[in-house]
Amino acid sequence: MSHKQIILRTQEFMKDRLLKEGSGHDWQHIFRVWKMAKEIGEKEKADLFVAELGALLHDIADWKFFKDPKAGSKESRKWLESLNVDEDSIKKVCSIVDNVSFKGSKIKSKMESLEGKIVQDADRLDALGAIGIARCFAYSGFKGIPIFDPKIKPNLNKKLSNKSTSINHFYEKLLLIKDLMNTKTAKNIATKRHKFLEDYLKQFYLEWGEK
Ligand code: NI
Repeated sequence: MSHKQIILRTQEFMKDRLLKEGSGHDWQHIFRVWKMAKEIGEKEKADLFVAELGALLHDIADWKFFKDPKAGSKESRKWLESLNVDEDSIKKVCSIVDNVSFKGSKIKSKMESLEGKIVQDADRLDALGAIGIARCFAYSGFKGIPIFDPKIKPNLNKKLSNKSTSINHFYEKLLLIKDLMNTKTAKNIATKRHKFLEDYLKQFYLEWGEK
């Protein structure tokens, strides 16, 4: 099977898997991360096959609560072996999946490979810009989090919770993402999307009559 076919089959596999799950972790996020990883990978001269597979599989174990931190790479390995992908590529992809998807610990995951850094960048970029704002409000709506309350100040040590607001989440997380980029290509994209967040906030406060 050609690399192109393997990528296509993996797309179908993930689409199917996430559509059936219906837990809010959507295929469209995966698709955007894949496209972005490909774009960054081309500019950074990465191994595109590994970067693209890593992007497509990065949330494979995120849709359900897995106690096993290696669940993502185990599932990925099973899938890639069924397509006879070479062992070297499987190892690289599995290490990406483990590092991106394991968020259960406070230990900061460290991406070793260029391809892993690219997938991490692409995943984080999806939380910025117009799409990032849409995702933030969609998630807040799902969790019953209010849009804004001038009395509730951002808490930089907290995750988005019922006690905070969507607008606070900009300060608690979204505006900090730009400085986490690994690659130069991603940094450039992040800078533009970051500026969009700032402009959005300005307009928001203007309409609200605050600040
Ligand atoms: Ni993701």
